[in-house]
Amino acid sequence: MKEIGYHIPVLLKQSVEGLNINPEGIYVDVTFGGGGHSKEILKKLTTGKLIAFDQDEDAKKNAEKIISNNDYKDKFIFFQGNFKHISNFLRYAGYSKVDGILADLGVSSHQFDVAERGFAFRLGGIPDMRMNKNAKQSSLDILNNYSEDDLVKMFRNFGELKSANKLSSAIVSFREETQIKDLEQLNLIINQTIKTNKDYKILAKVYQALRIETNKELEVLEKFLIQSPKLLKKGGRLVVISYHSLEDRPVKSFIKFNNFENKSITDVFGRQKLEFKEITKKPIVPNEEEIERNNRARSAKLRIAEKI
Ligand SMILES: C[S@@+](CC[C@H](N)C(=O)[O-])C[C@H]1O[C@@H](n2cnc3c(N)ncnc32)[C@H](O)[C@@H]1O
Repeated sequence: MKEIGYHIPVLLKQSVEGLNINPEGIYVDVTFGGGGHSKEILKKLTTGKLIAFDQDEDAKKNAEKIISNNDYKDKFIFFQGNFKHISNFLRYAGYSKVDGILADLGVSSHQFDVAERGFAFRLGGIPDMRMNKNAKQSSLDILNNYSEDDLVKMFRNFGELKSANKLSSAIVSFREETQIKDLEQLNLIINQTIKTNKDYKILAKVYQALRIETNKELEVLEKFLIQSPKLLKKGGRLVVISYHSLEDRPVKSFIKFNNFENKSITDVFGRQKLEFKEITKKPIVPNEEEIERNNRARSAKLRIAEKI
């Protein structure tokens, strides 16, 4: 199994600075991955604590290394689970309010680079794409079982694919003969259906849609964001790194307007209830040096908000 490190943390310095860490405070990293951000937070804590989550059992193995480190073991708690359950996990750990929450969305390089996880269209294998390996539905199940209408919705909403109708109809026709078995078959259907000289971009959109649907990424992101202001102390920070516009849009809207409509909504008395002050009016993006060193950082956007 070829692997070059688990994951290079993105916007590391800027995001950890964004948490404005109090060494005695309580912090949460909801997307632990290889622990790049978590380790940087831990370095800054004295009597403080870090609670981290990841739904991937491979990330848990990285967390176990921190737990076995004497310097950190008393400051660190890890839960293998989905961040949509953040309130329950924190309550279980004995915390109702925290000083900062960091979310570095999407998948890790490890998940992309290991062919068996089925995230990358260039690596072959089976389109699995479950971040939680025990989740019931893989991308392959979706491809073989979704109705044509549901496939269209998925490719349109989560891949912003203009040929969503054509591709969905081609998948359903293929299934009349036999089930889709692997990435090669899926790539062949895509290439035969959508004639384009930008194959790579189309494949990326199809795979993005499948990944988002498989992991219900936008649904769980909204659930997480809605809980975040109730969990932060006044002055506590929410720090989110996103990697595409479908992720960034709800983050931006929620921080600014406390809703996902991207507009100010007032109650019958004309009042608008805001939970956050925007610390970053414009998102922070990686500089050229970071992109050169880590190409996967290229689409990252960092937003920082403070609980009011
Ligand atoms: C971009 S990586 C984080 C990398 C990490 N910051 C580091 O420096 O190594 C995203 C991680 O979040 C996890 N993840 C994504 N969505 C999640 C969710 N809803 N609940 C829990 N973990 C999630 C993925 O399994 C992946 O390991």
